[in-house]
Amino acid sequence: MMNQPTVEFHDVSLRYRIMAEKGITSLKEMAIRWMVSRIRYQELVALSEVTFSVSSGHALGIIGHNGAGKSTLLRVAAGILRPTAGTAIVRGRQAPVIELGLGFEAELSGRENIFFNGALLGRSPLEMAERLDEIVAFADLAEFIDQPIRTYSTGMVARLAFAVATTVNAQILLLDEVLSVGDASFRMKCQRRLQEFRETDVTILLVSHDLDAVSEMCDLALWLDRGQMRSFGPAADVVAEYKASVGGGQAVGGAIETAVAPG
Ligand SMILES: Nc1ncnc2c1ncn2[C@@H]1O[C@H](COP(=O)(O)OP(=O)(O)OP(=O)(O)O)[C@@H](O)[C@H]1O
Ligand SMILES: [Mg+2]
Repeated sequence: MMNQPTVEFHDVSLRYRIMAEKGITSLKEMAIRWMVSRIRYQELVALSEVTFSVSSGHALGIIGHNGAGKSTLLRVAAGILRPTAGTAIVRGRQAPVIELGLGFEAELSGRENIFFNGALLGRSPLEMAERLDEIVAFADLAEFIDQPIRTYSTGMVARLAFAVATTVNAQILLLDEVLSVGDASFRMKCQRRLQEFRETDVTILLVSHDLDAVSEMCDLALWLDRGQMRSFGPAADVVAEYKASVGGGQAVGGAIETAVAPG
C-alpha cells in the first residue's frame, strides 16, 4: 500500500447554487420571497470532471485565473464541500485548508488563536501548549503573540497560520495563497519546511498565483480553467504552458507573477 495516492479525484464536479433573482432591493423582500419559495436559483459550475491523483512526498501546485475553481478544489479535498458528481478520496490526517483569515478570531491574541486553531484541528490544549514555543519561533512573532490578531498585518496572520498548520503533524497540507503574502525571508523558511515535509512523506496541495513559488516548491501542477482541467503534470511544464497562454508566447520571468491578495 506504499504507493497508494493520498489524494484522488475521479471526475469531480461541483456546482454552487446561487440566487438568480434580480431586483430584490431589501432584506425584507428577500425574506418574504424566501418564505413563499419564490426565490429562483441558478447553478454555477465551479469544477467540471476533474481527475488527478497525488501520492505522499509530492507537492501539487494548483494554478489558474481568478474564479477558476482552485479554492473550491481545496475545499473539496478538505471535505468542506462534497462533490456534486464524482468522488474525492483523501487518505491521511490533514490540516484543514489554510486560507487567510480562516480559523482565526480577530479579537483573540495570537497565543489564544494558536489554541483555538489547534482545537479546530482536533488537537488537545496540552498538545498545543507543548508546541507553542516552536510555533511562535517559526512564525517569528514573539513580540506580538499577546496582541489581538486584528492588529496583525496580513503577512503576520499568514505566518501564524502556516506555523500552526505545519507543526501539528498533518499528513496532508492544503495551502491556499498563504505564502504569497509573506516576505522573502519567511518564504524561504516556508520553502525549506515544505521540502522537509516532502521528505517525510507529507502530501502538499498549494494554490498560488505566484508561479515562481509553484515552480520552486512543487513537483506537480494542475492548471484549472473555468472549472476544467487544462493540464496536469510536472510543475515546470504546466507553469510554462500556463504562462504561454497568458502572455501569448515566451513569458518573461516574473512578468506574470502577481502576489494577489485573496478576496
Ligand atoms: N460559496 C460560493 N457560492 C457560490 N459561488 C461560489 C462560492 N465560492 C466560489 N464560488 C464561485 O465558484 C467559482 C470558483 O471560485 P473559487 O473561489 O474556487 O476560485 P479560485 O480559483 O480560488 O479564484 P481566486 O484565484 O480568485 O482565489 C467562481 O466563479 C466563484 O464565483
Ligand atoms: Mg481562491
